[in-house]
Amino acid sequence: MTDHDLTRAADWLRLADRVCVLTGAGVSAESGVPTFRAADGLWEGHAIEDVASPGGWDRDPDLVWQFYNARRENVGTVRPNPGHHALVELERRWGDRFTLVTQNVDGLHRDAGSRNLLEIHGSLRRTRCLGCRAVADRGLDPLGPAPRCPDCGGRLRPDIVWFGEALPEDVWEPALEAAYGCDVLLVVGTSAVVHPAASLIPVAKRRRHPAAKVVEVNLTETEASRLADIGLYGPSGVVLPKLVERLGS
Ligand code: OAD
Repeated sequence: MTDHDLTRAADWLRLADRVCVLTGAGVSAESGVPTFRAADGLWEGHAIEDVASPGGWDRDPDLVWQFYNARRENVGTVRPNPGHHALVELERRWGDRFTLVTQNVDGLHRDAGSRNLLEIHGSLRRTRCLGCRAVADRGLDPLGPAPRCPDCGGRLRPDIVWFGEALPEDVWEPALEAAYGCDVLLVVGTSAVVHPAASLIPVAKRRRHPAAKVVEVNLTETEASRLADIGLYGPSGVVLPKLVERLGS
């Protein structure tokens, strides 16, 4: 990350009426939450299609719950890091004109204090009943190997969007609007390979003249880099606080 790029990104932000942020697993890496795409193509030792797809659920729901219970346990032990807190500070400055769209299901943005937040891939803390369809926040307490709905006795599944499933409209529609209407889009800690989440980047670029400025914050270049106007390469827990500091008061 060059000092010049940091200053340019801060200048664009200062002029921005609306700001949108898209985050991925990288923003939580410094908190101790593992990212998804390890070099061996496995996700914590499992093939993604076994633990994060409707087919995997049909084949072995116990394995799916074992996997998500372990992730719930991990998230119970971690805390937001300076990257999450820097995004709260941006929201404090822009208020309703700031939208944070996250692919993360760990809840750390909410724990940090972000409120104008769209969790487009769902939440580890919520369950959805396959009987009565009720969605409930169950915190991070252990749920056991095959949890059942306390209301109707139906089987519960994690309220998480799996591969092959559509994103819930109540979060996806406002996410599209926020990306299309923003002046600066910050793309933080995502490999930008999972769609439709990654399509928010071209959506921001497609907007009325002038197109939004896209600022990527990541350890490395990604699929998003092609559309980024600037890349600030480094850990988001370091880069984002620096960006806020450069913005000044
Ligand atoms: P990935 O694991 O694909 O990508 C994580 C990104 O974070 C990579 O580009 C890393 O370079 C970057 N990264 C790692 N540590 C970082 C740090 N300290 N600071 C900044 N960047 C860092 O995760 P996502 O892009 O979030 O979907 O994956 C998208 C979706 O794929 C997830 O939401 C999940 C998964 O399947 C569902 O669960 C539905």
